[in-house]
Amino acid sequence: MWSSIFGFNQWRVAVLLLLMTVSPSFSGKCLRPCSCDLKKLTVACIGKNLTKVPPTIDEITVKLDLRKNDLQELPRGSFQHTPYLTHLNLQSSNIRSVREGAFRGLGRLVYLNLAHNNIDVLYQESFDGLLSLKQLLIDHNRVEEVQPGAFTQMGSLNLLSLTHNRLVYLPNMAFQGLLNIQWLKLSHNSLNNLATEAFASLFTLTRLSLDHNELQFFPTQTMTRLVEVTHLEMSYNPMIYMGEETVSMAKLTHLYLDHMSLQDLSDGALIHAPLLSHLDLSHNQLRSLEPILGPRELSFLNLTGNPTYCNCHLRPLREWAQVGQVKLLGLCAGPPHLSEEPLEAVDPADLRCRGREGLTKEELEEAEEAGAQLLAPPPKPQKKVGCPDNCECEPEAQHATCEDRGHTKVPQGFLKNTSLLDLRDNHFHNVPSNSFRGLAKVVSLHLDRCKIHEIEAGAFRGMKGLLYLYLMENDLTSLEPDTFTGAPQITYLHLDGNRLTQFLSAATLAPMPSLLELNLEGNAISKLESAGMLSSVKMLRALYLANNTIDSVVAKALDPAPHLDKLHLEGNKLTEVPSKALGNAPLLRELHLSGNPIRWVGPKAFMPIAQSLQRLYLDGTGLAKMSKDSLAGLGSGMLTLSLKGNQLESLPSLSSLTGLQEVNLADNPLLCDCNILLLRKWMDNVSLTVSATCGHPAELHGQSVKDVSVFQTCPEDEPSPSKPPLKAKGAAKAPKKVKPKPSLLKGGKPKMSKANPKPVESPKPSALPKPAKKNKKSKKIMQR
Ligand SMILES: *[C@@H]1O[C@H](CO)[C@@H](O)[C@H](O)[C@H]1NC(C)=O
Ligand SMILES: *[C@@H]1O[C@H](CO)[C@@H](O)[C@H](O)[C@H]1NC(C)=O
Ligand SMILES: *[C@@H]1O[C@H](CO)[C@@H](O)[C@H](O)[C@H]1NC(C)=O
Ligand SMILES: *[C@@H]1O[C@H](CO)[C@@H](O)[C@H](O)[C@H]1NC(C)=O
Ligand SMILES: *[C@@H]1O[C@H](CO)[C@@H](O)[C@H](O)[C@H]1NC(C)=O
Repeated sequence: MWSSIFGFNQWRVAVLLLLMTVSPSFSGKCLRPCSCDLKKLTVACIGKNLTKVPPTIDEITVKLDLRKNDLQELPRGSFQHTPYLTHLNLQSSNIRSVREGAFRGLGRLVYLNLAHNNIDVLYQESFDGLLSLKQLLIDHNRVEEVQPGAFTQMGSLNLLSLTHNRLVYLPNMAFQGLLNIQWLKLSHNSLNNLATEAFASLFTLTRLSLDHNELQFFPTQTMTRLVEVTHLEMSYNPMIYMGEETVSMAKLTHLYLDHMSLQDLSDGALIHAPLLSHLDLSHNQLRSLEPILGPRELSFLNLTGNPTYCNCHLRPLREWAQVGQVKLLGLCAGPPHLSEEPLEAVDPADLRCRGREGLTKEELEEAEEAGAQLLAPPPKPQKKVGCPDNCECEPEAQHATCEDRGHTKVPQGFLKNTSLLDLRDNHFHNVPSNSFRGLAKVVSLHLDRCKIHEIEAGAFRGMKGLLYLYLMENDLTSLEPDTFTGAPQITYLHLDGNRLTQFLSAATLAPMPSLLELNLEGNAISKLESAGMLSSVKMLRALYLANNTIDSVVAKALDPAPHLDKLHLEGNKLTEVPSKALGNAPLLRELHLSGNPIRWVGPKAFMPIAQSLQRLYLDGTGLAKMSKDSLAGLGSGMLTLSLKGNQLESLPSLSSLTGLQEVNLADNPLLCDCNILLLRKWMDNVSLTVSATCGHPAELHGQSVKDVSVFQTCPEDEPSPSKPPLKAKGAAKAPKKVKPKPSLLKGGKPKMSKANPKPVESPKPSALPKPAKKNKKSKKIMQR
């Protein structure tokens, strides 16, 4: 169990020598029920039903094995009596919770095994103090949530293993602080959503295992952040298609995409993976494949277990492999005379299509039967029990799909252990009660684009395991209270792109107490008119209401929303920040209001959520003025402020927002005169890149606030703190009247100050704001 890959510890030699002389005192402290190995400084208390860490363990111990106990909770400072530990094994000890600071004091620990416990949340400071830890194993627990910051103090960690847990989502910066991580194992979870910055800051990671999850799309943006990754395991995710430029990973050499449901892989999918040498596409549904563009040194392409059809359409791939010396693995699935031939053994000249339109007779018949073109899904597997007509089932993967097969009724007769049921792009119109009888194991149900305008009460009854329900892009105009009754675990509900005119009533939501995400984007909801509209779904974390026609939000609309983390209201018709609705959403971190006609933000607009808010988006709202107290209450917790594409000439002071990582002020007509000196100084003071351009005066139009030198000539005295730092009107007019010569403003040697038209000596260096290096945050450019 103990790994011995770590360097020998000189300290241990010293201790060992010491012990040779004082050994009696050590063995004397080896109290029951534990057993001790004096030479190895090891203590083992395995399977002793211990309910807490024994306080009597000798201080000098370096390896402690507490497997198979009953510890339940690890309180703060659980190991403070054994500061020299390097290895700690806590497997199968029935641990439910690891409190903040549980391992504090274990600064020498290199190996920590917490596998096979019942841990469900990794708190922000659960692993505090483990400064030397190299391997952390948390496999086979129930982790559903990684709080951002959970790993911030683990700069030595090489391996983090979180396989066989219950992760469905990874938030931004989930792994921040892992400065030396090499391998991150997230296999065997239920991940279906990775925030774009989930892997940001993992600059040393070379291997990432994401196999056996529920990813339906390759998370292109998220992966692009992984600049050093060479090995990526994505096997066993339900992906169907990979389009152009899907993978953009400069150092990737090994990519495992086997055992997915790929029906098509665009020839340019890997165009930004230039170093790829091994590509595993085995056990997918690929009937043909074009030469793969991009990788220059591809040496293995594995197509084993695909229904590869060896006709003229495969010839380009075969020839390309021959020329490029790509080892092509796999067998022909047809036509009959080539069936079971290794792809490599087939002479390209034999890859032919006969008859008109390049189809053989068999192919024609087959294509007609499938009602599709040549690259249509593979020939129907022979009819099997447990797979309805005109559907395809993979019993082993527990997947069934009847996508786009013209079904007008929900097909019946799927295997009871089906876990993914894909019925998208059919024509159901109406979904009757009990349509999915007996499918208690389905986790993910796709009913997108099925022209559904009515769902009867209890349609999903019996779907006890349903977590993901996709109903987007149908024709629903309303939903009855019992629509979702009988599927109590629904966690992610997608209703975007329907025609709903009202928000779901509390009664409609009530049967889904586990709901975490509700997507209602692109509907026709015009008002949020009931107070407490989320009161029956208290777990809800993300509410998507973008692109509706919402023009008003009643006070206390979100009272309460105890777990709401993200609220998307962009693209609506709001004319003000709905401050009064936000009073009881204590964890709201992200608020999206872009694209609403909000021209003015008044005082204290964000006060109700000031304690929690981290990201605020107000782009393209036509915003012309912000009260100087509009950001009152917001402080160091704010990470992102986006005000792009507005009409702002000035801004309230941002100096209290000391934690900002991203600021976007682009495309605002900022008035560049001495009144925004403080903004300019603030920009130089923080080490992030702020994109801001001048709109006025005309001479400076379009120039970056950072580049103009007008500020060199401003009086050195800063405006008194009581004055609003950036003022709009009155003072704003002065420079327009003065009209300094452009040559004075563009670098050069300004001799006149606009605000203070006295001759000034050449600017003293001290008058120039100097970038301070205090802020450690990474730079971030937001413009574009
Ligand atoms: C641990 O507790 C269980 C149940 O309480 C008991 O059956 C078992 O014998 C105990 N084992 C030891 C080593 O005490
Ligand atoms: C190709 O895929 C098959 C099936 O997944 C696997 O058994 C085999 O090892 C792979 N071959 C190579 C060279 O990767
Ligand atoms: C699902 O059930 C079918 C039929 O009972 C069986 O053949 C298949 O192996 C099962 N799949 C799994 C993963 O257990
Ligand atoms: C809202 O609609 C606009 C315009 O159609 C589109 O560009 C944008 O992506 C939509 N936003 C969301 C979140 O769906
Ligand atoms: C610059 O940073 C220092 C220290 O963080 C702070 O005291 C000062 O107010 C800042 N100046 C501006 C103009 O934001």
